[in-house]
Order: sequence, then C-alpha cells, then structure tokens
Amino acid sequence: TAIYRADYEAPAWWIDTVDLTFDLDPAKTRVLSKMRVRRNPDVTAQPLRLDGDELNLARVMVNGGGTSFKMDGDQLVLENLPEGHEPVELEIFTTCCPAKNTKLMGLYVSEDTFFTQCEAEGFRRITYFLDRPDVMAMYTVTLRASKAQYPVLLSNGNLVESGDLEDGRHFAKWVDPHKKPSYLFALVAGNLVAREQKIKSRAGNEHLLQVFVRPGDLEKTEHAMNSLMHSVAWDEARFGLSLDLDRFMIVATSDFNMGAMENKGLNIFNTKYVLASQATATDTDYANIESVVGHEYFHNWTGNRVTCRDWFQLSLKEGLTVFRDQEFSMDMAGAASARAVKRIDDVRVLRTVQFPEDAGPMAHPVRPDSYIEINNFYTVTIYEKGAEVVRMQHNLVGREGFAKGMKLYFERHDGQAVTCDDFSQAIADANPESALAENLQQFRRWYSQAGTPVLKAVGQYDAAAQTYTLTLSQSCAPTVGQSEKLPFVIPVQMGLLTAAGQAIALQLQSEEAAQGTSRMLVLTEAEQSFVFANVPEAPVPSLLRSFSAPVVLDCEFSDADLLTLLAHDSDPFNQWEASQRLGLRYALKFIAASADTESANDQFGTEILPADFVQAMRRVLQDDKLDAAFKDLVLTLPSESYIAEQLAEVDPQRVHTVREAMILQLASSLLPAWEAAWESNRDTGAYTPDHVSAGRRALAGRALSMLCLNAVQTGDTIWPGKAYQRCKDAGNMTDRMAALAALVYSASPLAEQALQRFHALFKNDALVLDKWFALQGAASDRGGNVLPAVQALMKHPDFQIKNPNRARSLIFSYCNNAGAFHRADAAGYAFWADRVIEIDGFNPQVAARLTRVMDRWKKLPEPYRAAARTALERVAAKTDLSNDVREVITRALAD
Ligand code: ARG
Ligand code: ZN
Repeated sequence: TAIYRADYEAPAWWIDTVDLTFDLDPAKTRVLSKMRVRRNPDVTAQPLRLDGDELNLARVMVNGGGTSFKMDGDQLVLENLPEGHEPVELEIFTTCCPAKNTKLMGLYVSEDTFFTQCEAEGFRRITYFLDRPDVMAMYTVTLRASKAQYPVLLSNGNLVESGDLEDGRHFAKWVDPHKKPSYLFALVAGNLVAREQKIKSRAGNEHLLQVFVRPGDLEKTEHAMNSLMHSVAWDEARFGLSLDLDRFMIVATSDFNMGAMENKGLNIFNTKYVLASQATATDTDYANIESVVGHEYFHNWTGNRVTCRDWFQLSLKEGLTVFRDQEFSMDMAGAASARAVKRIDDVRVLRTVQFPEDAGPMAHPVRPDSYIEINNFYTVTIYEKGAEVVRMQHNLVGREGFAKGMKLYFERHDGQAVTCDDFSQAIADANPESALAENLQQFRRWYSQAGTPVLKAVGQYDAAAQTYTLTLSQSCAPTVGQSEKLPFVIPVQMGLLTAAGQAIALQLQSEEAAQGTSRMLVLTEAEQSFVFANVPEAPVPSLLRSFSAPVVLDCEFSDADLLTLLAHDSDPFNQWEASQRLGLRYALKFIAASADTESANDQFGTEILPADFVQAMRRVLQDDKLDAAFKDLVLTLPSESYIAEQLAEVDPQRVHTVREAMILQLASSLLPAWEAAWESNRDTGAYTPDHVSAGRRALAGRALSMLCLNAVQTGDTIWPGKAYQRCKDAGNMTDRMAALAALVYSASPLAEQALQRFHALFKNDALVLDKWFALQGAASDRGGNVLPAVQALMKHPDFQIKNPNRARSLIFSYCNNAGAFHRADAAGYAFWADRVIEIDGFNPQVAARLTRVMDRWKKLPEPYRAAARTALERVAAKTDLSNDVREVITRALAD
C-alpha cells in the first residue's frame, strides 16, 4: 500500500537511548535491545507501535517486568504502557538469521563477515524499533562473538571497552557520542585488516582514519585512504565542516546492494568503491572511489548531523551530498578544463538516465508525494536531479552566498530531522537580496513537479537598431499524476558570439553599460523576452552555459552556428554541447530517413556525417591546445538512450545501427588522426590516476577502439594485433581493459582468445571478473550471438547470481545492451522476465532495479512492443512478487 507525504505525523513516542547487545552467530543471532522511550507530548496519547521484519520475538519487558503486547502485521504493539510523560524502560529480546539474509538488508553475512545495511528500513530487520528517520537516539552497542572467527568487532562511534569472554568468545562495546536515526546504525564483525592514518584537523584535534578490508586486500586501499583524507580536508576548507568523531572507519564488502552507506563513523562500502590498484582498477574506478568516499564522508554533515524528517525528503541529503561530491571532484581536478570534463560527465549521466526516468512510468518529483517501496526511490531523480536543484540554488546566490546559506542551515538545524523546504529556506534567508529569495516559492516547484522542462529560445536581430531580442519560453510535459505544470525558475547562464567567434559585451536595453560577456538570465514566466543593446551583428547565442538548469534546450541553431560554438565558445561545456547537438541532429535525420528501409547500414553506408562536421572533429582531435579528456568527450556521440529520448517511437535497432554507422564513419574518415592520437597518447609513463594522464589513456583507448573497428571493415589485422598485444602487456588495467574492449566491440576474431587470457590472469580478483562478465554482456551483437553467450556465462563457475555486483555485471549489462537485447524473437525479454522473477526470490531490491530496464517499453514499435508487454505481464502475473518489483511493474503497465 502506498504511503503519502501529506500523511506525515510526528511520532507518538520518542526513543532517547538504546543499548543493544548482539550475540553474533550466522544461524541465530540474539539481539537484546534496552530502550528508554517516552511519549511525545505534542501528539495525542497512542500505543507504541514498533516496526519489525522477519524477526523472532522472544521476550518483551517494561520497566523490568512483564507486559502484554500484540502483533499487528509486522508491528509489535504495546497498548498498556504507563500513562504520563515519564520515560519507560523497554527491553526486547529477538533473534534473527543473518546467514539466510539474501536481501542484504538488516544484518547479513558475506564471506564469513557480518555486515549491516539499515537505510532505508533495514534496522527493523535487526530489532523492533521506531524505524523512521525523525526518531533520533543515543546508541550503546555491545558485540559478542567467537574471537577466532570474528577478531574485529566494529560499530558506530568510539570503542569504550573490549575483552575476552568464556568459550573463546570476546566482546567490544561501542558508544556513539551523537544521536542518530536508526538507518545510520551499523555493525561489522569478521576477520579484517585495516590501513590506518592519523590526521589533525584545522582546530588541532586528532582523528584516526581506518579502511578495513579482507586480509590480502590492504595494498589496494591506498587510494581510498587518500580520498578520505582529501575529503576531510576539503569539507573543512570549503564549508568549515570538521570531522566530529575521534575515529572514522570505512569497511568494504563484496556483497552490497548499492554503492556505499554513510553509517555514523562506520561507512560500509561496496568493494568496487574501495579497492584499487593500477593492475586491477581503471581510471574510472579511481575517479569513482574518490567521489563515493567523498560522498559518504560528506553525508556526515549533510545527512547525519542534519537528517531527513521522512523518506520523502530523501533528496535533502542525497541531492545536497551529490552536489557536494561533484564539487569535491571538480576541486580535486584542479584546472578549469578538468572541471569542465567532470561537469560534462555529470550532465551525460543526467541526460542519459535521469531524463528518461523523468519521462517514463517511474517519473517522480525530487521530493515525491507517495511511494510503495522507498527502496525504489533511490533514483537518479532524487540523487542527480536533486543535485542540479541544489546547484541552481548555488548559482542563484553565488558561491559565497551558498556558503553562508549552508552555515545558516547548520545553525538552525544541527541535530534535527528536517525537510527540503527547510534547506531552501536557509539558503534563501542567508541571501535575502538574491533571485532565489525573491522567487523562493516558485523555485520550490523544482522539488514538487516532476518532468524535464523544455526551454525554448528564439533570437531576433534588428540590424538597424543593433538590438538582439532573446525570447525564452518554457513548458513541461505531463507526468504520472501531474497533468498541469506551472512555470519553473530557470537560471540561464548565457553569452553571445559573433559569427567569427568573438564574445559580445552583454548590455540589456534597460542598462547603462555592458556587464561582461557571460551572465545569468532568470526565467520565471512562461515566456519572457530579453533585449540586448549594441549588438554589432546577428549573434550566435551560447545558452545554458555549464548546463545552468536541468532542462532540454530547444533552439534552432544552424550547423554553422554550432560549428562556431564548438570552435570558439569560452564555455567548454557549450563547446562540447555543440558537438553533441550536431551529432544528435545527424542521428535523428538518418533514423527518420531509414524508417522505411530494412537496414540503415546498407542504405547509408558510412556517409551519415557531412564533411564539415567530420572536418571539425578532425580539428578537435588534432588540436594541441585541447585536453585529451575533452577531446575524448567531443568525439563521443550522444548515447543511444539520449537519442531515443528525442523520439516519440523508438526502434532500438535502428537507433543502434545508425549510431554505429556514425561511429564507423568517424573511425574511417579520421583514420590518420586516430593513428596519431594513439601514438601520442598511448604511453603515459608510470601510472598515476591524475586527470591529465587519465584523459590521455581515455583518448588512446578510444583511438585504439576506432582503429580496430575500422580494421574489421578493411580486413586489416595490424590494429587488432596491436590491441591483442596490449591486452597481454599493458602496465595498468585502464589500458588493458581498453584494448580488450576494442577487440570485443569490433567483434575481432582475436576477442575470444584475449578474453580467455584475461580470465586466466584475473580469475582470483572478483572486481576484475565483474569487468570480464560486463564486457561480454555489452558485446556487439553479430547475428544474435550475445544472448546465447550470456546464457552460457550464467553457467560459468565464476558466475554467482546472488552476488549483486556479479549479477549486475552480466545480466544488467546485457539488458542495457540495446542492440543485443531488443530481439525480433523476444528472447531478450524472456530472459529479462526470467531473471527478474529469479532474483526477486532472494533480493527484491536488485530485482526491482532490473525491472526498470523496461521502463520505456511503450515507445517501442512492433514487434518489440507486444513482446515486451507479454514479458511484463508474465512478471506481473506472479502472485508472490515483492513490493519492490510489484510497484515498478505496475507503473510500467499502467496506462
Ligand atoms: N545513503 C546511501 C548513499 O547514497 C545509499 C543507501 C541506499 N540503500 C538502500 N538500500 N536503498 O550514500
Ligand atoms: Zn548518499
């Protein structure tokens, strides 16, 4: 049943303290919880209803004596608690079975180690509790376990006592000095080793940082530790926020549903975001580790010190913390061009994943109004669009103003559970003169209205008056449950260029003088015009610089305009954007033109891209002044998913074929430039994951991939041979993986042998095996060969469907491989339905994620559409589906 934001009520009871004792045993763990509870004086007297899930209840005591209680579904209800407002001592004894906990929520066992995951509602799987974020308590935790099997016993806060017990057992007692909601509780017990680092804060306090991993993985923790130290220093320097604990721990586990979790003082991470060595991790892995370590660390303030009142406010902490980790990565990247590359990467994710979500059956506002299963709302909308909404506030008040706003936010709300409105209020109140404060109520529509707005821009030049009138208008298509949308506040950072690429001074007609060459217009109405004076010639507008708002910009640029922007815009984001608009334009044109033909490939050969575009790409590739990473992004065509978003009906095969043909054309027509790019970037010397050398590796890898693709057409064997050699002797995983991918994507005859060699080399490294599986799931389809290969790989001895990373690596990568997944014989969809049902049997969260692969099925033409419906209905017909999958599938099938 659905839960509504409008139904929020403060809790009828508070829990002030909780004292937990665990006797850890995989088959039967005993949990004794002693709580001090009291009635909330602001709420009418009610029974105490505690949440539970898959618990065995053994005993309940009140103030030291027995009590009556009843069960209502999963809730434990205490109706006869003492009246009045005195604290009540409640004691609850339960057991649970961590070894059988395949959902990986609550307390579970992974590789003989105990871990917890409590966000959002996992704590109720450990003990009966008021499992909601606005109930914050002080925790004391005692862990008891076999000393030989579980030598390390960790929980939140500070270790205050430890020692041996009888029968080879030992104990550790932890006290968290900060009150917290239950979702931030954590414990870990197992045989682990730690990299340690002592640091001093600005204020001179000492802190111990620890990164715990399994024995043997210690040498792969250096980058995570460095990232953590940088995170601590960055939050102090940028926001004046210091570490508030003596000890800060990160623990890695290979069985984890998500990326990582910000439990107070005891972050638990997917190994994917901790372990790295140059031999096993790519540059992307290194960058992700820095960003996720930062993200979880930054939650210590934005999430833990100030938390969410209810789960509808999830973006309060996630949007803000993603914004912070994005800024952290940009500040770490340093140079302006590297910052721009990070911004482009972030925008690509937003457009490729969030825009489709916002237009599909799971569309929801950044602050949703209802949900059935909260786990389904850990989405790119809450996280990445939420971060864009914070970024717009940042841009509307300026960097300094935002810092002031954050300061006020913590002054007002430290130690509280609050709402998204509280956040924007603080930012606005700290900047009373800002465009944010002026338009705060309207700005908040970004939190309440789902859907991606379309910003239309029309320019008109009056040569006689030397004026340029820019008319901006906005609209937003209806989304589930929201048919009418009111205008948003849209900050439009912009500039004007001459045809030759000179920046024009920007002076609105109402102004005395020009105000620079880049400025922000704030659109608040459905339509507004801005008249610029002293404009010497018909300008090329550069709009939405740095992607200043999460909208689709609809503007009629000529090819020449876009080539001007690509070559001359001072905003690197819009330079890149111009290349994407051109690429998208040609893709859409040929997708439309090929609608009646059997195969776009045969029809158009390799002649989709016009000569001047190819020439512009060549210039970029050969430009010595541009960063390699930036070149790589310009030379990357818009993703299939982004192209598909522009179409009312999407034939995934046609989109795929046209895009592949465009890539092939870039491969063949830029051949010498690719060769030169490979030669000049392939050797980056001793490995460091810094942005400059990572960018060079990325470009070299793309060059190699292009050269191999071209070789398949021409029958050349030299480049595949070079790639094969590189797979053998690369000095780092980035180069090795790029070479292997080049062989696999070009379907080279050498691919199979290279894959086998790779497997033999890395068969003992789980994270590398994930890459190996993922690459094969994402391979180019040749006559329908990928699905049978994937089915065979499911029987591979290294494939484990219960491990989320492994399941994602093979199954998700296949189901997202449009060219191989959307088959005329519907076998891809049948495979998908089987896997959803299978995974739902043990891990609903992962199953629900897989379900979402079909979000956009209604845009498919026949025969795909009917086949997709059949598969969806087959899943929906299962009577014992989890709430997680049920919610997604119901929305997908709804009209
Ligand atoms: N708060 C975590 C993060 O973003 C994500 C945890 C989500 N877990 C879940 N089971 N839904 O850092
Ligand atoms: Zn987070």
